[in-house]
Amino acid sequence: MIHLRGPRADVVIDETTGAPTIVHWGAPLGDIDPASVAVALRRVTRLGALDVEAPVSILPEHGSGFPGRQGLAGHRRGGTAWAARFTTIEVQHIASGVVVHAADERAGLRLLTRITLTEVLCIVCTVVNEADTRYLLDGLDVTLPLPAHASDLLTFEGRWSREFHPVRRVWPVGAQVAHNATGRTSHEHTPLLFAGSPGFGEWHGEVWGAHLAWSGNHTVFAECLPDGRRYVQLGELLHPGELVLQPGQSYTAPEVVATYAADGLTPATWGFHRSLRARPTHPTSPRPVLLNTWEAVYFDHDTEQLQQLATVAAAAGIERFVLDDGWFGGRRDDRKGLGDWWVSPEVYPDGLAPLIQHVRGLGMDFGIWVEPEMVNPDSDLFRGHPEWVLATDGYEPVLGRQQLVLDLAQAAAYEHILGQLDRLLTDHDIAFVKWDMNRNHVQGSGADGAAGTHAQTLAVYRLLDELGRRHPDVEIESCASGGGRIDHEVLRRTVRVWTSDCNDPLERQIIQRGASMLIPAELMGAHIGPTRSHTTGRMHSLAFRSLTAMFGNFGVEWNVLALGDRERATLGDAVALHKRFRALLHSGDAVRFDPVINGTEPAGHAYGVYAGDRGEALVAYVQLRTGSSLLPPPLRLPGLLSDSLYEVQAVQLPGQGGPAFAAVRLTGRQLAVHGVQLPALNPESGVLLHLTLVG
Ligand code: DGJ
Repeated sequence: MIHLRGPRADVVIDETTGAPTIVHWGAPLGDIDPASVAVALRRVTRLGALDVEAPVSILPEHGSGFPGRQGLAGHRRGGTAWAARFTTIEVQHIASGVVVHAADERAGLRLLTRITLTEVLCIVCTVVNEADTRYLLDGLDVTLPLPAHASDLLTFEGRWSREFHPVRRVWPVGAQVAHNATGRTSHEHTPLLFAGSPGFGEWHGEVWGAHLAWSGNHTVFAECLPDGRRYVQLGELLHPGELVLQPGQSYTAPEVVATYAADGLTPATWGFHRSLRARPTHPTSPRPVLLNTWEAVYFDHDTEQLQQLATVAAAAGIERFVLDDGWFGGRRDDRKGLGDWWVSPEVYPDGLAPLIQHVRGLGMDFGIWVEPEMVNPDSDLFRGHPEWVLATDGYEPVLGRQQLVLDLAQAAAYEHILGQLDRLLTDHDIAFVKWDMNRNHVQGSGADGAAGTHAQTLAVYRLLDELGRRHPDVEIESCASGGGRIDHEVLRRTVRVWTSDCNDPLERQIIQRGASMLIPAELMGAHIGPTRSHTTGRMHSLAFRSLTAMFGNFGVEWNVLALGDRERATLGDAVALHKRFRALLHSGDAVRFDPVINGTEPAGHAYGVYAGDRGEALVAYVQLRTGSSLLPPPLRLPGLLSDSLYEVQAVQLPGQGGPAFAAVRLTGRQLAVHGVQLPALNPESGVLLHLTLVG
């Protein structure tokens, strides 16, 4: 048995089961003999069952009698080698973990399982074909066992403009599956799930979370077996024939990143945040406030008007100007031009230099939008190379937004796109790239006719890596029609995600709350959009829009040229407010509080950020709808320094009169026990509270 200890969790591994078995993942165990875990959890055989119970190993084996979904699926010609059973060969101790080597000589397979425990538990499995025939791999899903009392599940549903909606349910006997074949991380099935003790909340109950760090197809599977055991499986979804291992070849599955906390969902999600903050590419400079041109001008590009927009933006304190879709090739609308990554002489007769120089002269840096994985049939690129698309010969390709996916696994297509992007970044003073991806893969075959999403996903990573190597100072944002590509693997190459195309703050409250369970605020793009939301038609005050956007990587996506002097000044106040708290927002621990029940149902929700040393905090309460009582209940704030005294003050929001909240001084313990009485608020508005340590 191997005992790993992390900051919030312990893991005990039985390395003798071939594919190793995690026998404990959860509460710290103190000084124990790890062998006693197996003794404590030993299960007796039952009537009607096999004489031996197969463990829920990291790759549970049908061949050993596991009654659920096996972790490794594949076979050789004639249907053989389909139920591998591994034996441990060697255990290698590495920093913070182990690598277990196992083999099934009969099936001709070797398995390497790497397990590390730091802020998060990370598992990576590699299967090697050691025989002299092909092995057709159907799936390799890392499996994490969960205790029987982890009987509540939290998953996420979504769609374009409505990502990350939490779905809570009791986890009955049976399976629940998310099947993502979109070719990207997807809006619909974030590869993320939490399980917890019954009724777990933000600050109570044991919580286990697992995420698949992968930007292609995936399956997330959670099952409670009829024998009472629970497990979750996460892995790449492979289309038939997509992965064939020739003799000597191997496949490494996407990493599973997992987190645990004994005291609720909020502390559990810190594991995900801290592991992202620990990646070498995590930005260290303050995250620039940006203006994005999309909802300001769409395809209506005009250098002079954009220069004026930049002037107003800079006066409001904005630090980065991002030119969205519409600047290149024949891209005058969303039906043509993708693939032609040269500046349109029609729209920019003098190139981008006059705009970039103007922006730089105002003290801002410049960002640009691209969608490198795509091509419109109406483009020079497609006319020259119709063979470069991810499609299946003999079938009419299915279009999405009038575009096709470029097959970047084809070396020539890859080199062409790399060359164009490299030139764009070399020839222009560009600090930031918004990398978009706006359609699903459908019947996407590579050049050999086999399904190509796996190879495409790796090619996209290679492209991002190579551009990062050539242009290390350029920051990249991951966007896919909003939040269709938000995962920890793409975030190893990017510094920001575009969370959603929906800038309606009421919708964003829910979307960002869900997203905050996977990523920290500094990576989460959040913009003040137009007064009337372009995606929902709702109208909201600037105060509510800025309160919502400020808890992210803040930006503005609005035609600010149309604003009068007073509104421009108020926008400046919103930018200044974000900047005032930016260091705290982007370094502290994100906190969420359980939905505030007013009467019988939640009418509002609360969230915020605590400084790492708990010396300061910023907390927002948002009234989502009317409650049965005009006055919301007190908001209890657990997790601060119990014996210290905090002053709680309301922060004035831009364009809003002072809220009816008188400053109070309370200890951390009182804040947890009694909380602070919130003011009466109209629906779709909020209050921002600043807590400082005074004794
Ligand atoms: C989808 C993105 O999510 C939007 O923000 C915008 O960049 C458009 N694409 C541009 O086509």
